Amino acid sequence: MPIRIAIIGPGALGCLFVSLLFPKKQSAKDSLWLLDHNQERTTLLTAQGILYETDKGQERYPIPVSSDPQAISPMDVVLFCVKSHDLDGCLQSCLPLLSPQTLLVFLQNGISHLDIQERLDLPTAPAFASSSEGATLLGPGHVLHAGRGITCLGFLQKPADRQQQQLAELTRILQEAGLQVALSQDIRTQLWAKLFINAGINPLTAIYNRTNGQLLTSCAARSRLKNIVHEAEAVARACGIVISVDPLQATLTVCKSTAKNISSMLQDRRHKRPTEIDAINGAIVREGKRVGIATPFNEEVVQQIKKIEEKYNQDTTRIEEI
Ligand code: PAF
Repeated sequence: MPIRIAIIGPGALGCLFVSLLFPKKQSAKDSLWLLDHNQERTTLLTAQGILYETDKGQERYPIPVSSDPQAISPMDVVLFCVKSHDLDGCLQSCLPLLSPQTLLVFLQNGISHLDIQERLDLPTAPAFASSSEGATLLGPGHVLHAGRGITCLGFLQKPADRQQQQLAELTRILQEAGLQVALSQDIRTQLWAKLFINAGINPLTAIYNRTNGQLLTSCAARSRLKNIVHEAEAVARACGIVISVDPLQATLTVCKSTAKNISSMLQDRRHKRPTEIDAINGAIVREGKRVGIATPFNEEVVQQIKKIEEKYNQDTTRIEEI
């Protein structure tokens, strides 16, 4: 029996994963689904397919899309590719998809979803993933795969043998689909490593309306980025997180390697969508309070982004320039 996979959320990463998996899975009917809570968009995506674009060209895939978890259940693997702040509601609505044997994999930015098993009383330990694939959603169901990255998968605690095997099988399937995937024995460290980068880049690009690379050409932005990442590093060390790569250097490197990127938070701001500030810098502030480390630079960007979000409905929102 082929392993049945559901990808939840037709955002950039959801569309990317489903597009890469589809060519390998299309011969096995019903073994791959994209789930979208929005019925109107489900109809559109079913009619038009998912458009996968790279610098080499475009491919349109007739991927099965559903907004009805009941109709396609149960699944062996469910990959949650929704924003952190949508996760709890999304998980509730996806309950019909799950059986006690289903492997749940969470692919969110930030760290505020790491307590999801206890918070929502999940029967089995989920896996977590961190991905640096460069994906941008250009329109509904239209993803640009701009840069190759690596996806790390792992459990927070040692899982049961069955779950370990399921994750190894998923890793193999993703690798066959062309993704660079690694099983991580310490996914918490990987998620913090990504958190440093998101904490330094995302709020400042959104506040200053700049690409990732443009942060480096402004003294003000560069200095704030440095202070934000240093604070995050101090919090991580106090939380007992192993730091093997210098967080500031890693963040500056990503600014350069993704210089033309419009960060996900700046994209959220431009489309007046809720940002992931609570899961990123907000989480650093909360963890800092817990372990007694002051985080004024992170607090400052949290306040600024929240003010920006509050003003989404006013036409007067002004994008601050450097
Ligand atoms: O959120 C994002 O935009 C990305 O994670 C990153 C690495 C900051 C690149 O734009």
